[in-house]
Amino acid sequence: MRAPAVRVRGVEKSFGDVHVLRGVDLDVMPGSVVALLGSNGAGKTTLVRILATLLRPDAGTAVVHGFDVVAEAARVRGAISLTGQFTGVDDILTGRENLALVARLRHLPDTGAVADDLLARFGLTDAGGRRAGTYSGGMRRRLDIAMSLVGDPPVIFLDEPTTGLDPQARLEVWATITRLAAAGTSVLLTTQHLDEAEHLADRIAILHEGVIVQDGTLAELRTLLPPATVEYVEKQPSLQDVFLALVAPTSTDGPTQEDPS
Ligand SMILES: Nc1ncnc2c1ncn2[C@@H]1O[C@H](COP(=O)(O)OP(=O)(O)OP(=O)(O)O)[C@@H](O)[C@H]1O
Ligand SMILES: [Mg+2]
Repeated sequence: MRAPAVRVRGVEKSFGDVHVLRGVDLDVMPGSVVALLGSNGAGKTTLVRILATLLRPDAGTAVVHGFDVVAEAARVRGAISLTGQFTGVDDILTGRENLALVARLRHLPDTGAVADDLLARFGLTDAGGRRAGTYSGGMRRRLDIAMSLVGDPPVIFLDEPTTGLDPQARLEVWATITRLAAAGTSVLLTTQHLDEAEHLADRIAILHEGVIVQDGTLAELRTLLPPATVEYVEKQPSLQDVFLALVAPTSTDGPTQEDPS
């Protein structure tokens, strides 16, 4: 079996006395999409920042594209890109200039050609000469993701790639991510949107109270709950049912049922 593109073992991180990550284990196989789900404050961004070498773990190990995130941080940075929860687009520059700037920072030859290629791949050729400040939310996101692909990194981290996008722009971003994975890029994304995980991810990992409480395919996660049976319809539990059951405060009477009144 091929080595994982991302391998996380026992990673811990505290901020002051807040123990955010308490021993996270996670693998991302090459060319696959893994969605990391968790409530606000669960530590998703913290984990992504550790994998992108922006934060040091307190304990545990993380290896990205064969490199240790602490001991070989520079080599990890050469193999990844991170699209943050808040866009990295410079509004003053045009789309093309934003891309060329990243290409220059990555020491690529012929930055103009790199920019033009990515503008074309992301349907931004016509808008490429316009200041990014004039772009719609979906166009900015696409530009942001395009910027993260300069130099074709084999591993990409996307922190809430579709937050704030309208449904059509989300579909565009989903199609982009699917294409990337099909071409062999390994993708770890965080999301609050359970339908996003359902549509995009090969595997879904749920981060809760500092650990991955479940990790599997959608079909595997669905088997965790019995199918909800109504009098005449049998319904598969949705990912939302599974997620809410897993992150519910521990109680003896099982997953919360909707109040029929
Ligand atoms: N630099 C920091 N200093 C102190 N506390 C921090 C820092 N970064 C994160 N935290 C805390 O760590 C916890 C996890 O934050 P994190 O941003 O990783 O959550 P998240 O799962 O990404 O949440 P969201 O869904 O809201 O983006 C939060 O309680 C947050 O306040
Ligand atoms: Mg976050």
